[in-house]
Amino acid sequence: MKFEEIRAAEERLLLTTYARSPVFFTGGEGVHLIDEQGNRYLDLLSGIGVNALGYGHPAIVETIARQSRALIHISNLYFHEGQAELALRLTERTGLDRVFFCNSGTEAWEGALKLARAYAGLRRSEGAKIGTKFLALEQSFHGRTFGSVSTTHKAKYREPFGPVVPGVEFVRFNDVADLRAKFSDEVCAILVEAIQGEGGVRPLSQEFFAEARALASSTGALLIADEIQTGMGRTGKWCAYQHYGIQPDVTTLAKPLAGGLPLGAVLCTEEVARVMHAGMHGTTFGGGPLACAVAVAVIDAIEQEGLLAHATEVGDYFQQQLRALAARHDAIVDVRGKGLMVAAEVDSAELGKAVVTEMLNRRILINCTSDTVLRFLPPFILEREHVDTAIAALDEILTEHAAHAATPSQGGRTHG
Ligand SMILES: Cc1ncc(COP(=O)(O)O)c(C=O)c1O
Repeated sequence: MKFEEIRAAEERLLLTTYARSPVFFTGGEGVHLIDEQGNRYLDLLSGIGVNALGYGHPAIVETIARQSRALIHISNLYFHEGQAELALRLTERTGLDRVFFCNSGTEAWEGALKLARAYAGLRRSEGAKIGTKFLALEQSFHGRTFGSVSTTHKAKYREPFGPVVPGVEFVRFNDVADLRAKFSDEVCAILVEAIQGEGGVRPLSQEFFAEARALASSTGALLIADEIQTGMGRTGKWCAYQHYGIQPDVTTLAKPLAGGLPLGAVLCTEEVARVMHAGMHGTTFGGGPLACAVAVAVIDAIEQEGLLAHATEVGDYFQQQLRALAARHDAIVDVRGKGLMVAAEVDSAELGKAVVTEMLNRRILINCTSDTVLRFLPPFILEREHVDTAIAALDEILTEHAAHAATPSQGGRTHG
């Protein structure tokens, strides 16, 4: 099918859940995507934080070829070597003890929520006083299934589907007093992202994170860290909570875990794990031989290629260049992030949207989250020269925007 036919067919046949950009990709190489006419696009979004090793990485391609010849799926009724190999690597790198494998971020988050409710139930049966309430944060994003959407703050994601799962209260972001006021022995878990992703690349303060840890520990409630966007090395450490020196009881991983194949994981302590018994939770596809083999290859490649240090180094350079740009353009009001999770906040939603479109016109992929936050989640193999290309394009776009804004009488004010 030709591009126009694909667009028409999708419009007729698919549920309208996505507003796709008008570009049709047929291939990828390194940090670039390639469209049907052979044009190369610098990908600073990597499939929303998924393609950590970029496109066509030999470790992934060769593992898929080898493992797909051996075994793709067997169900969780039998053993294969992948889950143990991967669980060994993940437990060593997260500081947690046990793993449950699933297929996506939201499914991992559902697993974490279920674990918290079940663990609280176990503790009640042992005589502890602990309730069933979740404390989530304002601006949080945890996914689209019912439990996940119930703990996701933005009303537009929750309200059309009400009533959502009851027992969730939202705490003001980084507001320690609000956290203390809302915490009680009714709470079974405090839910955080160390750096909020969809919420606008906003890091938790050390004080807030430490207080959440202390409060949870004071009653035996769980501290659950969603590392679906931040985990697996994106921020320069395997998990973003490691920047804080704070250990959660439960964490969730997905996005880059299997280098582009769907795979999620819930990890927890031995203490929490004692609540689970066979048949209580499960999945048909989760942790299949192919996805696990690729995830093992991704972790090994991240280590062999020194990509944690590389993400830190190139990410720091990216932020430094964005700060220099902010010094020249008042429209950039903040630059933040960690490693290769980087953001530049602009002064209007209209400008945010326009910059994404203008970058796409220059064949550079970024996105804008939380209305005004230009977000960069590139592959971990990004180099400084790619950062320079992006900065030069942003400089051009913001200069044009400023020139238009300065001459509104000519009808050129397009970005607000
Ligand atoms: C922090 C966080 N949690 C959960 C999810 C949901 O993951 P998925 O889209 O794989 O269900 C996302 C996706 O953007 C996320 O960023």
